[in-house]
Amino acid sequence: MEIIVRPENMQRITTPELAQAFIDEQVDLIRKQVGNKKVLLALSGGVDSSVVAALLIRAIGKQLICVHVNHGLMRKGESENVLEVFRNQMDANLIYVDATDRFLNLLAGVAEPEQKRKIIGNEFINVFAEEARKEDGIAFLAQGTIYPDILESKGVKAHHNVGGLPDDLKKKFELVEPLALLFKDEVRVVGVELGLPAEMVYRQPFPGPGLGVRCLGAITRDRLHALREADAILREEFDACGLAGKVWQYFVAVPDFTSVGVRDGKRYMGWPAIIRAVNTTDAMTATIEEVPYAVLHKITARITAEVEGINRVLLDLTPKPVGTIEWE
Ligand code: XMP
Repeated sequence: MEIIVRPENMQRITTPELAQAFIDEQVDLIRKQVGNKKVLLALSGGVDSSVVAALLIRAIGKQLICVHVNHGLMRKGESENVLEVFRNQMDANLIYVDATDRFLNLLAGVAEPEQKRKIIGNEFINVFAEEARKEDGIAFLAQGTIYPDILESKGVKAHHNVGGLPDDLKKKFELVEPLALLFKDEVRVVGVELGLPAEMVYRQPFPGPGLGVRCLGAITRDRLHALREADAILREEFDACGLAGKVWQYFVAVPDFTSVGVRDGKRYMGWPAIIRAVNTTDAMTATIEEVPYAVLHKITARITAEVEGINRVLLDLTPKPVGTIEWE
C-alpha cells in the first residue's frame, strides 16, 4: 500500500472517533487494493496481527484467510483464545495448525539460544508456507507491520517475519500493511474500536519464539509444561491484585537445573521458577516493579503446591541494564 502521509504530520489516533475515521478510510483502501482476491495472514494473537485481522475481516470478511500456527510455545490458553475470538466471535476464515510436535521434536536437545530462535523462526515459515500452498487464489499477504518496525528498519519482527518466505511465494503475494503508519498506542485504540477484547488489545509484549526463550537450555516437554502452568499462576495473581494493569511485562522463566527440596516428608528434586516483573517505556532500559511480599508469598505457595516439578520460586531484581528483560 502506498504511504501517502508521514506520521510526523499525521494526526495521532487517540480517541474512538479518530479510530473510527481511520478504520473507515482503511476499509475503503483495502477493498480497492484487494478487489475480490484472497488475503493470507499469519495470526499469532499478538496485538498487531490481531488488529490487522479484525480490520481485514471488517473490510473483506471471508476473503481473509488467517493461519494460526500453534508452535507449542504459547502461554496457557493463548491459542484457545485466538480461536474463540476470531473463529467463534468474529466468524473469521481461520486455519488452526497445531504444530507442537514438529517444533518440539526439532528443538529436542538444542540448548544454544540463537539456534533455538533460528529453528523456531524457520519452522514457522515452513508451516506457514505449507498452508499458503494449500490455498488457491491468494494474491495478498497481510502483515501487522507498525511504524516503529519501519523506523527500526527491521521491516517486520523477527519471528513473524513472513518476509522469510520461499521466493516462489514471496513473488506471488503483494503486501497489505494497513497499520504501517501507526504507533503501538494507536493500534490499541483502533483494536478497541474494532471490538477486540481488552485482554488481547492490552496484552503484554510476548516474544515471537514464545516460551521457547523462557524455558532455558534444551526444552523438555515436562519443564515447558511446568513453565506454562507457573506463568499462568503468576498472571492470575497479578490480575487478582491489580498489578496486571500496572506492570509492563511479567513472566516466569525456568532454568534447566534442579535442586533438592522436600515435599510430603520426602526429598523432592525440582526446578526453580524465576519471576520477572519490569517496567519500561521502550524496552531499551527497564526498572523492577516492587511486588508486595504478600503477593509474592501467595504466588510462591501456589506455584510450589500446584506445579509438578517446581520446588522453589525466585525473584529477579535486576534492572536492564545490566540484565535483559528476557532470560535466554
Ligand atoms: P530483551 O530481553 O532484549 O527484550 O531486553 C526486550 C523486549 O523485546 C521482547 N522480545 C521480543 N519481541 N520478538 C518480539 O516481538 C522477539 O523475538 C523478541 N525477543 C524479545 C521482550 O519480551 C522484551 O519486551
